Amino acid sequence: MLRMVVCISGGGTNLGAIIKALEEQQIKQTKIVGVFSNNPNAYGLQRAKAAGLDTCCLSPKTFETRELFNHAFLEAVDNWKPDLIVLAGFLVNIPTELIDKYPNRIMNIHPSLIPAFCGVGYYGLKVHEGVLSRGVKVTGATVHFVDAGCDTGPIILQKAVEVLPSDTPKSLQQRVMEEAEWVILPQAIGLFAENKIQVLEHKVIIEA
Ligand code: GRF
Repeated sequence: MLRMVVCISGGGTNLGAIIKALEEQQIKQTKIVGVFSNNPNAYGLQRAKAAGLDTCCLSPKTFETRELFNHAFLEAVDNWKPDLIVLAGFLVNIPTELIDKYPNRIMNIHPSLIPAFCGVGYYGLKVHEGVLSRGVKVTGATVHFVDAGCDTGPIILQKAVEVLPSDTPKSLQQRVMEEAEWVILPQAIGLFAENKIQVLEHKVIIEA
């Protein structure tokens, strides 16, 4: 049974999609052993509790230093003994200790087609604002492993979404979530759980 920890900061709609995929057996042999948030007001924590999941919330604001928060965050995650950590709308810089401890075992969902509209400053609505101001016709979402860079890890899955003339950042964010994020994140977790993902020279090979 794959032990998975999901980290959230906000609405937790991606967590909701994972819970649904587990219930519908799209993801097999996997259990969410814990949901971590840095934000006590994250609605995703309500979703987790409603699903009977173990939760832990630690806010960096309540720690004297970022180092102390990072240590507590790492300890909280380690206590769940995860095989896979999924960052699902998680807006915290991941400590290098965590990345070093879980190489190619931390997945992130980013709401654009990396390498476009990603990196420092591109998160949440800012991604979609960038997409609309550049006037691109296609955007989407990317699931990737987390490495020491910002959105630079090996790409696992991507899904494209058409940009409509009528789109606002909000409408585009919603459609990217519905048509891309909530589809490819559960898919990527399912592939990982079935040992169908390999990483070779920073590129992901998916077994058919
Ligand atoms: C989503 O667009 C996700 O890609 C981004 O944060 C937004 C909210 O995610 N990282 P969620 O509803 O908290 O899963």
